[in-house]
Amino acid sequence: MLKDRTATVETASSSDEFATHEIALRPRDVRFDFTKSPLHWIPGEPYASHFLTGFNLALPAGERWFCKVFTDALEYVKDERLREEILGFMGQEGVHAKSHDGAIAVYLGGHGIDVAPFLRQSDWLFGRLGSIIDQAEGPEGKRNAVIGEAVLVAAIEHFTAVLGDWVLNCRWDELGADPAMSDLWRWHGAEEVEHRHVAFNVAAYFRASYLKRIGLGLLASTVLYALFLRGLKFMVRQDQSLPNLGYPRLVWELHKAGKSGASPRIRTLLGSALRLFNPRYTPEKEGNTAQAVAYLATSPAARALHG
Ligand SMILES: [Fe+2]
Ligand SMILES: [Fe+2]
Repeated sequence: MLKDRTATVETASSSDEFATHEIALRPRDVRFDFTKSPLHWIPGEPYASHFLTGFNLALPAGERWFCKVFTDALEYVKDERLREEILGFMGQEGVHAKSHDGAIAVYLGGHGIDVAPFLRQSDWLFGRLGSIIDQAEGPEGKRNAVIGEAVLVAAIEHFTAVLGDWVLNCRWDELGADPAMSDLWRWHGAEEVEHRHVAFNVAAYFRASYLKRIGLGLLASTVLYALFLRGLKFMVRQDQSLPNLGYPRLVWELHKAGKSGASPRIRTLLGSALRLFNPRYTPEKEGNTAQAVAYLATSPAARALHG
């Protein structure tokens, strides 16, 4: 295992100032003020705004499920270093879930958006996934369920790193995006880049087969793309200023928002899935740790607590 991890780190050194093992993962205290954030928080880009906000709705339940899976995985991980990484990862994901909960309550609540129906669906989805581990029969069944879900988390973490890298390099400042919402996504995205190796290392520790990684990678991609579209559709339907578009038109609007740089391009999202299916895949190239750490040192939300 240690040998595998070292190989991964060496791959990174050519493109990144930091090797992942140099970073001790820790959750950061953050504070956001969304009271002045407009519903269309990227000016003139309602669909890009709602794409991100719709994804926000699914994040708290999803990240709490990550923490459940990795809490259960700790029972089987004897490598001290990996255990530390898992604990740091869970600490960060726990704060992400809490912060996105806050965004839902203050930002969407302030705009009179009733998100309860969507939250019920995402709680159901991630609760079902968590219950697969709890209901597995026998020690071997539980171990297999934990490994399967850890591989699924690793696949999803690939996409969160891709999105994290994107938000750290996107044009939101030029487009006049709301500072509080931009910082929420960039702080979160930077921590996704910072801890992008952890779930991958857990899957490697369990020696998950390529076939299992492909199957669960396909499942993760499908669920994520469905959540992206479902979240966007939900937000657009709640927004009285927009027509209630069907999915084909929403995809077209996303295409336009991607071209203007307000949201990730569709081909960026689809292309990133292809990289995940490469047998030699590692997450090291999916972002730059030095850039992420630099952002985290200057994030207004993180500094607000120390100023
Ligand atoms: Fe996260
Ligand atoms: Fe993450």
